[in-house]
Amino acid sequence: MNFSSDLYIMEILIFEDKTALARSFGELLSGIAIDRDSVYIALSGGSTPKVIFDLLAAEFRRKIDWGKLKFFWGDDRCVPPDHPDSNYGMTRQHLFDKLPIPESNIYRVKGELPVAEAVADYIEVVDKVVPKKNGLPRFDIMMLGMGDDGHTASIFPYAIDLWESPNLCEEATHPQSGQKRVTMTGNVINNSELTVFLVTGSNKAEKVDEIINGKVGFSQYPAALADGDKLLWMLDKEAAANLM
Ligand code: 6PG
Repeated sequence: MNFSSDLYIMEILIFEDKTALARSFGELLSGIAIDRDSVYIALSGGSTPKVIFDLLAAEFRRKIDWGKLKFFWGDDRCVPPDHPDSNYGMTRQHLFDKLPIPESNIYRVKGELPVAEAVADYIEVVDKVVPKKNGLPRFDIMMLGMGDDGHTASIFPYAIDLWESPNLCEEATHPQSGQKRVTMTGNVINNSELTVFLVTGSNKAEKVDEIINGKVGFSQYPAALADGDKLLWMLDKEAAANLM
């Protein structure tokens, strides 16, 4: 996959199923890690990454120098790390516990703290650890999911103004559950070198089509605001159904 440095390209890859998508994401990660000393990656949460992480652990143990990867999250829930809702906890179960990843390379949201403290702590960690470009932390890879309402990270349509926050992270609240979250915001998400949406399932097809094809009202969805230097949509056939 070649990206011209002076041309903004959005690339769309469509896969037969989650396994094929996960395998391709592993190859992408492997290729990026080969010629870098470190890879700063912000992970997405929810359920889609579980299949991806399981496959990476099963098939890419020796294809990726895991010690190079520095793990962050685009968002996490304000729960303890061992809580079933924790994105960190999910990643530990499906990826970290199966691979030789140094604990010192894992920078989790401290969801057990009061939300304002968790936000402030994560801002400090991301600002201190992640190399900068344009005066902002710059991730090599920003891994994002998309909800069926068009949210990404934990920026939901009803609170889309969080995207424009000058802060690296903000407190967010899930619209249905009221669950408190810590989320990265648009300035750091869009400062990434490569932004990869990994989206699967037929329930995402409508929003994928509206966003990728810029249909009426698409800009109301936070996922539509993500770009970065390079933007890649990795979709299974179900999520891409309205594109084909
Ligand atoms: C989270 C995620 C969120 C997720 C979407 C899609 O913490 O839930 O970061 O942005 O990527 O909600 O989730 P699914 O993959 O479970 O559909």
